[in-house]
Amino acid sequence: MSLDLSVMLSDKIQAMSESATIKMAQKARELAAKGVKVISLSLGEPDFDTPQYIKDAAAEGLAKGYTKYTPVSGLAELKKAIVSKFKRENDLEYTEKDIVVSTGAKQSIANVFLSTVNPGDEVIIFAPYWVSYVELVKFCGGIPVVVGAGIDQDFKVNAQQVAAAINDKTKVIIFSSPCNPTGSLYSQEELESIAQVILPHNNLIVISDEIYEHINFVGKHASIATIPGMKEITAVVNGFSKGYSMTGWRLGYMAAPQWLAAACDKVQGQITSGASSFSQYAAAIALEGDQTPTREMTAAFLTRKKLVLELLSQIPGVKVNNPQGAFYVFPDISYYFGKSNGELTINNADDFCEIMLAEAHVGCVSGSAFGNDDCIRISYAASEENLRTAIGNLHRVLTTFK
Ligand SMILES: Cc1ncc(COP(=O)(O)O)c(C=O)c1O
Repeated sequence: MSLDLSVMLSDKIQAMSESATIKMAQKARELAAKGVKVISLSLGEPDFDTPQYIKDAAAEGLAKGYTKYTPVSGLAELKKAIVSKFKRENDLEYTEKDIVVSTGAKQSIANVFLSTVNPGDEVIIFAPYWVSYVELVKFCGGIPVVVGAGIDQDFKVNAQQVAAAINDKTKVIIFSSPCNPTGSLYSQEELESIAQVILPHNNLIVISDEIYEHINFVGKHASIATIPGMKEITAVVNGFSKGYSMTGWRLGYMAAPQWLAAACDKVQGQITSGASSFSQYAAAIALEGDQTPTREMTAAFLTRKKLVLELLSQIPGVKVNNPQGAFYVFPDISYYFGKSNGELTINNADDFCEIMLAEAHVGCVSGSAFGNDDCIRISYAASEENLRTAIGNLHRVLTTFK
């Protein structure tokens, strides 16, 4: 008996690309396994441990018997804490029925696409975008409509661009702020002008991915849901992975109009049965507890951002903006396209990353994975020492490319 994988594997899974960030991290690990000292600046996870009070809370949850299935849309005490968080931090009024807790923000986003996108529906994705948006839309049979902004616009799409992209087939608009991969933040004013373009349309919703909310270097976080009329058509997605350094706990949440929350609850009821019980118990305490560890982590990221920008600015031809959040920089390295060290030629951002991994032993991710072919993403969720060494290595190798 034989199996023909082109028949066995669904068309949908064959059409899906592998996550570029995970692929790059894998390549870096393979090189490291050969004994090469590789510094990976490719992953999107804080290099800090989960704060101790949250770990203690999980142990307490286990001891108290939080080891069973929870309600599919989340533990009552966590939903209550999320409702309070929205009120306290965002001035947004929700009830527990508007909240769906999930196995990560990624699951929340997938839930919304699965609940709303029919084959042929268009989804506007602001670029640079987070890698999974496009693949999830395609998986649901939707058509990704990418609206891009370059470094000259601080990588932020404007209202006119959004207006030009909306048509009768548009069902969803998605973006992240603070943005992965650029670290850019949409200001309240920018979101207001985008909202004014969206509001007149019927049958159109927004997914506002706010997972990096707490890693913000300029002050108050702006959410599009706070603009009058928008809360009714917005799914605000957030979670614990970044601000609380809880990537492995797999816990995120969404606040949305009740019809959408109910649909996402239904999706989870068939696919995951909801998130881990003791993770949820601890997450409620994470939200209500002392936020000092989150603030300290953000302060450390700010120091590193300054260091990375200073080091990158010394490399000829590399252009950077000044990101105001998250823990990424997204330099434009197109100056090096067509340049060679006599042996290897950098033709595009993919080549740049492959060559830098092989020659400088530094892992970064090509901007092509994020909808911008001129840039690369550098994550500064790494020690200052590693950042100095890695960017020093990039600098040294790049000077050999003429
Ligand atoms: C913009 C963005 N949204 C969502 C996620 C998913 O986060 P989670 O770990 O909560 O699934 C990530 C993680 O890298 C992200 O960068």
